[in-house]
Amino acid sequence: MKTAIYPGSFDPLTFGHLDIIERSSKIVDKLVIGVLNNSAKKSLFSLEERVSMIKEMTTSLPNVEVGSFEGLLVDYMKEINATIIIRGLRAVTDFEYELQIAQANSVQNSDIETIFLTTNLNYSYLSSTIVKEFASYGGDISKFVPEQFIDRIYAKYNITKNTR
Ligand code: PNS
Repeated sequence: MKTAIYPGSFDPLTFGHLDIIERSSKIVDKLVIGVLNNSAKKSLFSLEERVSMIKEMTTSLPNVEVGSFEGLLVDYMKEINATIIIRGLRAVTDFEYELQIAQANSVQNSDIETIFLTTNLNYSYLSSTIVKEFASYGGDISKFVPEQFIDRIYAKYNITKNTR
């Protein structure tokens, strides 16, 4: 049984992430979405909120689980018996960073393979950072994230229906 991990901060989960989750869940036996708990980095949503938002959107995918980790990805992968890392590649600008992480992880554990999925063209510009930037000014984020997240994201910036 091939278990893969799709790691990331998911702060918040976007349509781009969901596209990668849906597609990669079809090519592995089990997919664990590994939410990074990085205490050094201030996130918009707490770890619990990020995990629960992803669970909310993946209930229909039977081979997908959501977990969280702190520390090194390779250590978490040992814990959950995963040997494949899934990452999305949006543009050539992602490539250098992603190649470096993939190679470093492979040096740490040669059983690990990283599989890159090219993002759907509709989402090639999209990132959690873009969502936060638009949301912080009350901009339209309906094409970026699932509808049920929209009010929760604006609320983090104290933006209500009247102020956007
Ligand atoms: O999509 P993101 O949020 O940039 O994800 C980055 C992530 C979580 C894949 C990467 O930062 C990571 O694996 N962090 C855990 C710590 C680690 O293993 N570092 C070594 C590889 S950079």
